[in-house]
Amino acid sequence: MITGGAGFIGSHVVRLFVTKYPSYRIINVDALTYAGNLENLRDIENASNYVFENADIKNEAQISKIMEEYHIDGIIHLAAESHVDRSISGPMEFALTNVVGTLNLLNIAKNHWENFEGKTFYHISTDEVYGSLSMDDPMFSETTPYDPRSPYSASKASSDHFVRAYFHTYGLPVKISNCSNNYGSHQFPEKLIPLVINNIVNNKDLPIYGKGDNIRDWLWVEDHAKAIDVIFHKGENGETYNIGGLNEWTNLQLVETMCDILDEKLNREKGTNRKLITFVKDRLGHDKRYAIDATKIEKDLNWKPSIEFEEGLEKTIDWYLQNQEWVKNVTSGEYQKYYDEHYR
Ligand code: NAD
Ligand code: DAU
Repeated sequence: MITGGAGFIGSHVVRLFVTKYPSYRIINVDALTYAGNLENLRDIENASNYVFENADIKNEAQISKIMEEYHIDGIIHLAAESHVDRSISGPMEFALTNVVGTLNLLNIAKNHWENFEGKTFYHISTDEVYGSLSMDDPMFSETTPYDPRSPYSASKASSDHFVRAYFHTYGLPVKISNCSNNYGSHQFPEKLIPLVINNIVNNKDLPIYGKGDNIRDWLWVEDHAKAIDVIFHKGENGETYNIGGLNEWTNLQLVETMCDILDEKLNREKGTNRKLITFVKDRLGHDKRYAIDATKIEKDLNWKPSIEFEEGLEKTIDWYLQNQEWVKNVTSGEYQKYYDEHYR
């Protein structure tokens, strides 16, 4: 069972597992919130080892029924409310989905599995639980103390604690990974990279929070999916693995680079897109810098990022340019209202 499989990262994980493991039956459990979209999985939706279940991770009856019906023996849990800005304007939904939803899944898995032999509960988390780094701080490692600072990261930290509590208290076979910022195809355009591509295409302002000097460590989403595959199969129960790209960029550097790439791709005069950059009011509690030390997964499980950022960024931009219909579908309706309210 993969939860949140209709979302950005989840759809890449579902695709990888459905195509790589024909002998597994993959059950994608997703409530199809604004961020979930079955279009993301059109290419594999008819595969004989793939099933979609429209269900809410908070709903005990729905999830229990799925566990029983499909004899679920492995769970990769990605379903979540994932956007920091939305957590600032509406924290409650984040507590309900990310904390209560995860607790509900843990409880159902514990009660449903008669013994834990060969079972796996793998929880997908974020580097944001470790807090914010200054420029001179060392990167986050698996032993960095938790210090969440946004309602989103607080909800993810809380869910991580529950997952570990189920390991220590009940012996549930759990694994956790904490990953840095993902980029790639099918990411909802509320997040920085697809938002900037979409706004450039439409000649709209590019809103940069504060001075644009906040730093993120970007990882190609398909490399995250591969790391999830490796951890699910080879990671130790009770262990945590950090996943990152060793690829730190300030937001301004990143947006300027995207402007330049898109000047060329859209046949605009050099420098045209940079004129769209607009500095706006900073995000409340904006974390300064994230950076992941991924030595453990590299050494223990032989995983490392496969592609360079420049290549991944160009592929990502090309995907959005070639899939304008997808962008149009997901940005109509609710997104317009969110955008107008948030950036007004
Ligand atoms: P996303 O917002 O694109 O997708 C979330 C998916 O979860 C959607 O398909 C949505 O419909 C589904 N969902 C939400 N609430 C649900 C509920 N109550 N029941 C069932 N399904 C529900 O998120 P994403 O960016 O793909 O992130 C996936 C996971 O990875 C999250 O747990 C997130 O915290 C984590 N993560 C994300 C990043 C990143 O850069 N995007 C980095 C590290 C970790
Ligand atoms: O680090 C992992 C996390 O990365 C994940 O856990 C989250 O689910 C994911 O959304 C992402 O969080 P960020 O807040 O880092 O991503 P976002 O794309 O929202 O913002 C990236 C940076 O860009 C951040 O410093 C805020 C800034 N930003 C963002 C938006 C949407 C802007 O300057 N302007 C914007 O309009």
